[in-house]
Amino acid sequence: KQTDNQLIIDAGQKQFGATTCGSCGMLYSTDSPEDNFQHTQFHQRFLDTIKFVGWKKERVVAEFWDGKIILVLPEDPKYATKKAEDVRRIADSELGFQQITLSSPSSAKTYLFINSDRMVVGCLVAENIRQAFRVLEQPEKPKDINKEDFMERHRAWCCSTVPEKAICGVSRIWVFSLMRRKSIATRLLDTVRNTFMYGSHLTKEEIAFSDPTPEGKLFATKYCDT
Ligand code: ACO
Ligand code: ZN
Repeated sequence: KQTDNQLIIDAGQKQFGATTCGSCGMLYSTDSPEDNFQHTQFHQRFLDTIKFVGWKKERVVAEFWDGKIILVLPEDPKYATKKAEDVRRIADSELGFQQITLSSPSSAKTYLFINSDRMVVGCLVAENIRQAFRVLEQPEKPKDINKEDFMERHRAWCCSTVPEKAICGVSRIWVFSLMRRKSIATRLLDTVRNTFMYGSHLTKEEIAFSDPTPEGKLFATKYCDT
């Protein structure tokens, strides 16, 4: 379903020679020297960061036909924690987070989805929490405002003031742009619920998303409903 807004954006992209790189997913203008330079700068660094060579000891917590999920804990060897941190940085820069510190680094568990091409295509950081504030439902998008205004307005989510009991806080969830809508985020979250607390299965209510982006909220709403 294309809106008028979308058509204008597409026309603009054609005019400026915009393309999405098929390997790193960056959207840039092939006509612009600065864009080409930025892409060259980004491309190899990104692919190196998500490249996964395999480790002597891997904590595999789930396996699928198209990949696996490994868990990295703060006390793991440097090569593992460094990879987790590098991937988290990529996610952070895409999310526009400035600082890269976690609220409780010592309890942070990082789940990485590795695909069959040996690339880290998904990352989820989960932390111990005790309470959370529910994000209140937002009204539907009114007809007379454009998408950018709507997204901007909805970045400030309305939260309830009543704390609710939660156990696991998801402070980051990120999937490589070229691999989205393949249930990678869903599988990461399902795996968190099964493995976050030893010997118990967490309900959807016991998981909280911190400060979700509009995309994160669309995903979380869908995930929690089903
Ligand atoms: N728009 C609408 N619905 C969506 C979207 C979207 N962009 N993304 C997911 N959904 C819904 C869909 O109903 C989808 O099911 P469907 O594909 O059968 O229709 C369902 O959620 C499950 O989606 P997944 O395939 O499991 O999600 P995906 O692997 O694509 O990852 C994510 C979703 C993590 C939000 C991804 O789009 C992403 O990395 N975005 C950029 C980073 C970001 O914004 N992360 C969330 C930040 S919030 C936080 O970290 C706490
Ligand atoms: Zn590229």
